[in-house]
Amino acid sequence: MIDTILRRGRVVSFNTEESQIIDIAIKEGKITAISPNLKESASQEIDLSEKLISSPFVESHIHLDSVLTAGEPRWNESGTLFEGIKIWGDRKRKISIEDVKNRALTMLKQQAAQGILFVRTHADVSEPQLIALRALLELRSEVKDWMTMQVVAFPQDGIYSHSQNEVLLEKALEMGADVVGGIPHYELTREDGVRSVKKTFELAEKYNRLIDIHCDEIDDEQSRFLEVVAAEAIRRKNGSRVTASHTTAFGSYNNAYAFKLMGFLQQAQINFIANPLINITLQGRADTYPKRRGVTRVKELWQNNLNISFGHDCVQDPWYSLGTGSMLDVAHMGVHICHMTGRDEVNACYQMVTGNGAKTLNLGNKYGVEVGKPASLIVLDAKDYYDAVRTRIQPLYVISQGKIIAATTPATTNFSSTGIIQNSSSLEKSVSLSKVL
Ligand code: FE2
Repeated sequence: MIDTILRRGRVVSFNTEESQIIDIAIKEGKITAISPNLKESASQEIDLSEKLISSPFVESHIHLDSVLTAGEPRWNESGTLFEGIKIWGDRKRKISIEDVKNRALTMLKQQAAQGILFVRTHADVSEPQLIALRALLELRSEVKDWMTMQVVAFPQDGIYSHSQNEVLLEKALEMGADVVGGIPHYELTREDGVRSVKKTFELAEKYNRLIDIHCDEIDDEQSRFLEVVAAEAIRRKNGSRVTASHTTAFGSYNNAYAFKLMGFLQQAQINFIANPLINITLQGRADTYPKRRGVTRVKELWQNNLNISFGHDCVQDPWYSLGTGSMLDVAHMGVHICHMTGRDEVNACYQMVTGNGAKTLNLGNKYGVEVGKPASLIVLDAKDYYDAVRTRIQPLYVISQGKIIAATTPATTNFSSTGIIQNSSSLEKSVSLSKVL
């Protein structure tokens, strides 16, 4: 017996934009059939009325340990990365397992309601008790039935800035972190930065983990650790398991160097993550005019067929006090600041918060709307992916591993040119704005 059938949903091809109306059968959490007109029946059947079916959103870069702390103990008045690190240094003296878990769980539920079912979170492991890491590892197993989490052991203060940090990073891997992090541009010297990248690769090999390095998140055009990451990946032939996050300095490199580097990146085949919401605000703070946009070369990486995804990075914390966690907000900002406004480019930005993120996280068969895979998908009241980015609407349904974990009824606005609105049923000259927007 089939548990659930989703009737008359619409799938759209990324390549051709052709759409097809289909039914999806779900049994024991997996997709068992996809067909234009399934003959079987199920105990639960939902008519999707030709709404868009999509793979879920993937949050490939967020710091769940610091979410929802904006203003604690003070606001970031300069708006810089480095003031953010100082404020977090003060705030993290007061963190507890309960504090981190409560805030992170609130965020995960908010993300799930917005169609995110896969999250890679960084956990600051520069703090001697490893509280953030312990909290996020506990949460990873507690939410696994509806949310897939990857935890990065992230040495926020640098691996070599303090004698204990190298030990803490390795301990975090022994405790079960999925991914090894790094922050070479924040090490005390260029030499320490290079050494830190090598250390990250050594640990990843020793513990068989993925790599995600905060790399060159600075406007300094001399910050060139991306070439070090690429070189290590080329030598070790493990590019698909490696991610360079931020790489904002790549936006400031001279073209002669950037073009040479792009060739090495193609050899390395590493993944990239850009965080347009936060980096448009953090970067360029030392500029007068023109002010730089603070993002990496997203369009050029995409044009060179390299895998790039978008992350939210921070939500209401010392580095970014705004945000709701929506990946469509992220894609929308990416469209703007990366000059990705062409039809194919907007569709590509949608892929940067869905399939490209899945590739970065090495999700393999856990991701995608296909027979045999987990029934994890979202339903959007949008014509196509372009429309979804444009409207940034919340999903009507979020289905995780076969269960409907969130359902949203869209808000309806009534408009009356006479200025007389009594109630929706008695309006004669009103239109429903939700049909127009
Ligand atoms: Fe980050």
